[in-house]
Amino acid sequence: MVQRSGENRTVQSSAGSPTPPPAEFVEQANVTDEGIYEEFEERPECWERAATLVEWDREYDAIIDDDDPPFYRWFPGGQLNASYNCLDRHLEDGRKNHAAIWWEGKQGESETYTYRELYVAVNEFAAALQSLGVEEDDVVTIYLPMIPELPIAMLACARIGAPHSVVFAGLSADALATRMDAADSEYLVTADGYYRRGNAFNQKSKADNALISVGRDVSTVVVDRFGDDLPHVLNEGQYDYHDLVAGHTGETVPPVSRDADDMLFLMYTSGTTGEPKGVVHTTGGYLAYAAWTARTVFDLEPEDTYWCSADIGWITGHTYIVYGPLALGSTTVIYEGTPDYPERDRLWEIVERNAVDVFYTAPTTIQAFMKWGPEYPERHDLSSLRLLGSVGEPISPRPWQWYYDHVGDGACPVVDTWWQTETGGVTVTTLPGVKPMKPGSAGPPLPGIDARVVDDDGEEVDPGQPGYLTLHRPWPGMAKTLYDDDEKYLAEYWQRFSDPEADEWVYFSGDAASVDEDGYVTILGRVDDVINVAGHRLSTMEIESAILGVEGIAEAAVVGGTDPANGTEVYAYVSTENDHAPDQAVRERITSSIETAIGPIATPEAVVFTPDLPKTRSGKIMRRLLEDIASGDELGDTSALRNPEIVGEIQAATRDE
Ligand code: PRX
Repeated sequence: MVQRSGENRTVQSSAGSPTPPPAEFVEQANVTDEGIYEEFEERPECWERAATLVEWDREYDAIIDDDDPPFYRWFPGGQLNASYNCLDRHLEDGRKNHAAIWWEGKQGESETYTYRELYVAVNEFAAALQSLGVEEDDVVTIYLPMIPELPIAMLACARIGAPHSVVFAGLSADALATRMDAADSEYLVTADGYYRRGNAFNQKSKADNALISVGRDVSTVVVDRFGDDLPHVLNEGQYDYHDLVAGHTGETVPPVSRDADDMLFLMYTSGTTGEPKGVVHTTGGYLAYAAWTARTVFDLEPEDTYWCSADIGWITGHTYIVYGPLALGSTTVIYEGTPDYPERDRLWEIVERNAVDVFYTAPTTIQAFMKWGPEYPERHDLSSLRLLGSVGEPISPRPWQWYYDHVGDGACPVVDTWWQTETGGVTVTTLPGVKPMKPGSAGPPLPGIDARVVDDDGEEVDPGQPGYLTLHRPWPGMAKTLYDDDEKYLAEYWQRFSDPEADEWVYFSGDAASVDEDGYVTILGRVDDVINVAGHRLSTMEIESAILGVEGIAEAAVVGGTDPANGTEVYAYVSTENDHAPDQAVRERITSSIETAIGPIATPEAVVFTPDLPKTRSGKIMRRLLEDIASGDELGDTSALRNPEIVGEIQAATRDE
């Protein structure tokens, strides 16, 4: 029985019938031989195929060093530079005038960077960073919206061997400060502001607020995005990006050779505790895996124009906007805006204008399109598309089919890719030229990935039964550890199902899943205190602790309420202390406390006041029940409740919200 936070929970899966990959696609696909699964099964050396997609300064001595599991070292002895791999080598292979980045701005403006231009921009900013004192292994925090300076800053860091820690621009000042402190970061790259839905947001004031509480002196670079429209003042230790770079025009910085398992970047993500976790990714294993999966899963070729509509501030953007496509020498589209601004056909207009070959987005976006109707994609010629992808949440068969029919015109395979910040790249999905797709199911594990669904004892469950999704063999894209915290890395991911005595190491994903007779994995959602809201991974505990910081709040439980039209949204169930009325003012203080601690992405869809929260006899809040209420689902077993009388009241209050 799969348990969520100690409660009983049985879950069902429902995948649609198999859809074979379109013949026209298969004819040209990068991988078409089913034998690849067996080859990887028998020979872990097959990962060499991933390694050959990148250029090494020093050849590795072995594929993997597994002397100290689960701290695996991929491609030990190897040395390389990620920026060199994404830039310099493409200048040499005749691609210098090929577009590396097509940037589409919020206000309808666009910019193109050829590989040569990107190389110049990255070198100049790398020189600028060095002039500020950034040295190899210094963590540089990047807090930028989706503007070209974001990938430029990442690649500049990679060039000089300074790991970057990109913090999503929508996160709050507090969230930025926590991440900078946790990473001991003394450098920050930010911007004056960004546009969202036509409005200018002040990013610098958030950064300045964060810097007040960061415990060390920080040098800050500020990209001036708005000019006179949003004047800002540079304080001591703050530098204007363009002025700084102007002092390094035409300079080149030699790429630093990094050991394969040296940190390329840090990415903070939510875990089961309130504290964000700093997931460490390596230079060799990660980059090879990013390139390999971009080539095999997204079928990417250097000639392709590829568009992943995620934000670079999350892992999807790191791997499949920046590192994967640029390592392969493709053109990557970066879009600053939202799907419905200025019109609901904005994305399709961009696909048509740039003749996008491969498009990758999240189920929430697809669901929104489905609601708006097929006329928006129909306004545009989308025939350039060859493959579609989905990530971040389960995609139900209906939106899947809609995507397949109305965006792909039945000619593009849809890869429903399951992975996580920690896995670095896709681990479970159909190889698009090999396997039939099953709408609603992510698919089988990729070649070389040993994904299983197990019960509480770690035994594999029968087909169709729910269990925990686990990975039983290392893969090159896997995280190396958590920043400065090997113990927590072991505790969070490896302790639950591993048997160190027997030298069996099992990675626990935190997801529930089931697997069918054909080995297709259907993801059922998180079993820990993490919820996925519109592609953002949030910790319910972190939100609860922000609520509990509001005066007069006695108890809070945060859950994800899911419905087919809107995906998952945050629902907060709150009781107040006796002498505090549950009124609008408290509601506003709750929302504002959450926005201060995390950011508007965690703003609840509903704050439901209740005199009491549903509790088991041992006093544990029954979150599963609240989840069912928030989702409008039939309620599961409530017999363990100490206060069953409260349930009807909470249901009514939720409906009223
Ligand atoms: O619950 C799974 C869900 O997103 C979680 C990982 O979130 P994050 O680290 O932010 O990375 C998001 C993008 C890689 C997973 O534990 N998830 C991701 N992809 C899928 C998914 N759930 C269902 N189907 C997917 N394809």
